[in-house]
Amino acid sequence: MFEIKAKDMRGRVGVLKTKHGNVKTPALMPVIHPRKQAIDVKKYGADIVITNAYLIYKDEDLKQKAIEEGLHKLINFDGPVMTDSGSFQLSVYGDVDITNKEVIEYQELIGTDIGTSLDIPTAPFVEREKAEEDLKITLERAKEAVEFKKENNIEMLLNSVVQGSTFMDLRQKCASELSKLDADLYPIGAVVPLMESYHYKELVDVVMNSMMYLPENTARHLMGAGHPMIFALAVAMGCDLFDSAAYILYAEDDRLLSTRGTFKLENLQEMPCSCEVCSKYTPDDLRAMPKKQRRDLIAQHNLHVSFAELRLIRQAIYEGSLMELVEERCRAHPALLDAVRQLSNYSDDFEKYDPRSKKSAFFYTGAESLSRSEVLRHQQKMMEMPKKRDLVVLPPSRKPYSKFISGKLGEFYVYGNKGEFDGENTDFMVLDVPFGLIPLEVDELYPLSQSATPKIRDKDSLEFINQFFSEFIEDYNQVLVHSRLKDTLDIELSDKFEDEEIRYKKDDVRKLKAIADYQFGWGAGESLLKGNINVEKSKKTGKIRHIYDGKTLIVNMRASDSYLVLSKEGAKRLHGACEYPKNRVVVNKDSEPFALDGKSVFSKFVVECDENIRANDEVLIVNEDDKLLAFGKSLLSAVEIEDFQTGQAIKTRKGFK
Ligand code: GUN
Ligand code: ZN
Repeated sequence: MFEIKAKDMRGRVGVLKTKHGNVKTPALMPVIHPRKQAIDVKKYGADIVITNAYLIYKDEDLKQKAIEEGLHKLINFDGPVMTDSGSFQLSVYGDVDITNKEVIEYQELIGTDIGTSLDIPTAPFVEREKAEEDLKITLERAKEAVEFKKENNIEMLLNSVVQGSTFMDLRQKCASELSKLDADLYPIGAVVPLMESYHYKELVDVVMNSMMYLPENTARHLMGAGHPMIFALAVAMGCDLFDSAAYILYAEDDRLLSTRGTFKLENLQEMPCSCEVCSKYTPDDLRAMPKKQRRDLIAQHNLHVSFAELRLIRQAIYEGSLMELVEERCRAHPALLDAVRQLSNYSDDFEKYDPRSKKSAFFYTGAESLSRSEVLRHQQKMMEMPKKRDLVVLPPSRKPYSKFISGKLGEFYVYGNKGEFDGENTDFMVLDVPFGLIPLEVDELYPLSQSATPKIRDKDSLEFINQFFSEFIEDYNQVLVHSRLKDTLDIELSDKFEDEEIRYKKDDVRKLKAIADYQFGWGAGESLLKGNINVEKSKKTGKIRHIYDGKTLIVNMRASDSYLVLSKEGAKRLHGACEYPKNRVVVNKDSEPFALDGKSVFSKFVVECDENIRANDEVLIVNEDDKLLAFGKSLLSAVEIEDFQTGQAIKTRKGFK
């Protein structure tokens, strides 16, 4: 019912399948008023819409018409339609005259594609007792709805809404209880008051504490979110669906949406974008118009900017620049800046989803970038790295750093023992913002080389680097720091080092082993690159391309990110070098012949996998007896492979038939 096509952070470009067609996500569902709708939202890019089944049910005319003609005809939309259940009316008026079962039954009767049970939207910041009482009912009704759906062979997809107010443990509990049900979609509810009052930081907590306990294999809807200002942030947190009444409500009120915030028509000297409306009319034109005409034109603008933002977000996911977009968007308001900073509390979670390598380079846009998974992931690798006796720390020059290192390396200061410096037993690293330290051998790997930071370091990043540095160097006997770095580092440095013979020896095999270690686990390089190693380089760029043992190809080096891509021989060597289930995806008996045949592996056939697998990793495909069947590139993270029952998990390169 839901498949991932591309991903970045927790964000996904996906396809949601319904009776009335497929929807590309992240998607915006404009709210359609069953009686008053004036705008053809399809014309502005809507592939799916949402309307309120309770409003239809309450209106005797509409109620009958919907039963006779069907919902799609009633609202004149032939694509997928989601309906809400009257929960919002419940939260405003305290009561609705329909039961949970009745509203499910009615939604199915009128042909809704995705219906909703009668959850209780508990407002933020209420008393805990109230939140608990409401949650109990929400959970009971979600369960009742799922059972009712099963008993009555209801086809309609079903929403079970996550509630719990601003109590994070209740959000977690609700999400994990709902996940155990066999519902189809899990929207996150009661966030409208948070957004209206600019409590974006709390929104991050509420969304993340719900999201972390929801399954990966279905679309996640941020209910009532219709302002394009928060779309990028919400998508990065894993939201796939939005609904917008904002486009029309704001228009009623002469307000124009934009990714930078909201413009009041009365304050506009210039039209804020280049949509059809903004190109054709001036603010004065609009102000002079009759109310209804003006409202419809502003609504068109509002739809235009909302759909334009979603296109931009999907493009950012394809190219891997979603966080850059989020960081940019969150500069539109200090409350959004608080929100993006709040993401750093969830870095470990984001790291599990973020692809290992992306098309787009990593841009440092401010202190928030220090919490990104790329940084965290590199630092974790570095902390796990076996250390030699001595460390030489060099200042950054142009990336990739190793290209510009040769001959005499300069003067050094000493930290540590002041023993004898042992050039053979030395790690050479560059001090880098924001990654901390980068071993010269791996400096071409994504994102270490494919990244850019301002030349002038800010205070936050220097503090960050120093903290990492002082922890990292603990196990070294002695650290030689280049004289140019003396003032950057907050450590006590003693004598100048006398030896002028510090030279970094460039060596392809050593470099390849280090890359293999970094990529597949420390120690993998030695086994992968044994024998009579020949390195073939690109004539044009001089970069390593193919690596052989004698005449047998072992690995290729991918030009875009310098990761190693396995050959048959390479896969066999890696299989022998690391223990089950490291670097492995384990498939069941049924899919064995397909894997051997070199066919791609679908998630539903995977019985186990290395928890460290991320999208774009090279992986081994084995059976439950650890027999090597094939090898390929992972399209998903381990956590996603485990949850999905449809779609590809591994793009197989070759099978061992
Ligand atoms: N629309 C906006 N918020 C909510 C919510 O919490 N529940 C439902 N059912 N609809 C909503
Ligand atoms: Zn416009």
